Amino acid sequence: MSKQPPARRITVPQVAARKGGEPIVSLTSYHAHTARIVDRFADVILVGDSLGMVMHGMDSTIGVPLELMIIHGRAVVRGTSRALVVVDMPFGSYEESPAVAFRNAARVMKETGCGAVKLEGGERMAETIRFLVERGIPVMAHIGLTPQSSHVMGGFRTQGRDEESWPAHEADARAVAEAGAFAVVLEGMVEPLAARITGQVKIPTIGIGASAACDGQILVLEDMLGLSPRVPKFVRVYGALGEAIEKAVADYAADVKARRFPGEDEVYR
Ligand code: KIV
Repeated sequence: MSKQPPARRITVPQVAARKGGEPIVSLTSYHAHTARIVDRFADVILVGDSLGMVMHGMDSTIGVPLELMIIHGRAVVRGTSRALVVVDMPFGSYEESPAVAFRNAARVMKETGCGAVKLEGGERMAETIRFLVERGIPVMAHIGLTPQSSHVMGGFRTQGRDEESWPAHEADARAVAEAGAFAVVLEGMVEPLAARITGQVKIPTIGIGASAACDGQILVLEDMLGLSPRVPKFVRVYGALGEAIEKAVADYAADVKARRFPGEDEVYR
């Protein structure tokens, strides 16, 4: 009987090579069981720092500690065998200097087993991206609406509504691509700008609220599953998990109260 070879993970160069080709399917995941399901369909699984809000009830991503990213990153790597797992660098773990970024990103890579890290910022982070990539850490960049800078940006606003702002976003995209990022997330960006950037850079663009003009798409899993109480307008909701959980819990509570619960002899028969 021949043994199946272990599934090989999608690599960073394979994702980079999808520029202009088959669209890259990406989703977030923060825990092993959902990651196992997502792994069958996604090329890239992002352990996003959105987990602070989605899993831990925080108001923003600013308070997410590095240790939390490592715990969830490790769980997602354990639950997967095929997708490229990318772990977000949380606020405060990489901005200070390239050396600090390297120390923390190396910790994330070693302690989770992920294939790459993601960090927010364009031109201002280019030197750090180059420093990490030259030392063996693949980086996915993230520009446009960057939630970790929401205090500076004055909230969560779609970027590029005024054409005068386009050159700065385009310069950000070029800077991260030239610095060696293998892909770039474009978040919350008007379609013409996302299309221009996608046409200008040699690395794949992965959009979230940035139109179909990108080389791939990413959504927060809980948002598209219908589990998040509120979702951004651009999110297409594919499931009704919130309702399904509510119904199941209500049915369970009713069974318990009515003593309609299988006895041990039934369960262990
Ligand atoms: O944290 C996150 O989930 C992200 C995606 C929304 C791109 O950065």
